[in-house]
Amino acid sequence: QSSVLHKFKGVIFSTMSSEELLNSLDSFEAREDDVFLVSYPKSGTHWIAKVIENIPNARLTLTPPIELGDISKFEELKTYCERRVIPTHLSYSMLPMNIKQKQCKGGNHFCLIVYIVRNPKDIAVSFFHYYRDNPNLPTIETWHEFFELFLKGDVVYGSWFDHVLSWEEHKNAKNILIISYEEMKKDPSKNIKKITTFLGLNVTDSEINQIVWKTSFTEMKNNTAKENCDPNHTICALTSNRNLVFRKGAVGDWINYFTSKQKRVFDELFTEKMKHSELAKHFGDYS
Ligand code: A3P
Repeated sequence: QSSVLHKFKGVIFSTMSSEELLNSLDSFEAREDDVFLVSYPKSGTHWIAKVIENIPNARLTLTPPIELGDISKFEELKTYCERRVIPTHLSYSMLPMNIKQKQCKGGNHFCLIVYIVRNPKDIAVSFFHYYRDNPNLPTIETWHEFFELFLKGDVVYGSWFDHVLSWEEHKNAKNILIISYEEMKKDPSKNIKKITTFLGLNVTDSEINQIVWKTSFTEMKNNTAKENCDPNHTICALTSNRNLVFRKGAVGDWINYFTSKQKRVFDELFTEKMKHSELAKHFGDYS
């Protein structure tokens, strides 16, 4: 095991998520107007975060991930005055108790959760590059090596299958919105509208068009290259260097990496693990 990683409850984490913080997640106090932006790494978190940040007059502030840093994180999160948008790659089971309890309350006053899903083959390829480019992750020599780790769930945040399945039974809760990377690519306006409606915010069609434009892959990639890295603006707990994030931004890039054998092995595992999953239908056409 590399020095940049450690295991917590059987799942690999970056040492940037301290054990003490992970152990204390249940002491986090959620607010009823919080919005959690949840995803397995490489599902399009920065993209959806940018969409939310660009909603006019939303009075929302994007915070750093709940699992990044040490125990002082919870004090820091208390200092935000506006409605918080809190990103995290935690699976449902590891999410702070308080968030899950708030969820059970009647009425409209409980925190909202946006869960992003993406075709796992594209995630694997994206994650492979992230491992290679990100100094906070161990060195990986070959795609073949990474593929085996991904299949076994021996990567940060654990198995993609376990992550998605942990959200499966909550997908119909009325405070949870599922957004798919592929659907977002196909029809960004429609999906941005879904997000704004879910957050209870009014936006005009021309404002939506503005958001589509500002959050296009090219626009985001070019702007990021010009920006200075602000560690207070970290979305993924694995790096604060946004330049590592905007690689290709495409659907179906897996075809350039998976051998036919890897595709077969992956598809078999997918069929076995995801046979009862409705979330899996979001990307069924892309595999
Ligand atoms: P690729 O490596 O396949 O290009 P996350 O933000 O969860 O870390 O996910 C990163 C992935 O989302 C990367 O995928 C990145 O290029 C892609 N991405 C980021 N912004 C995007 C955008 N505006 N449109 C499409 N894809 C985007």
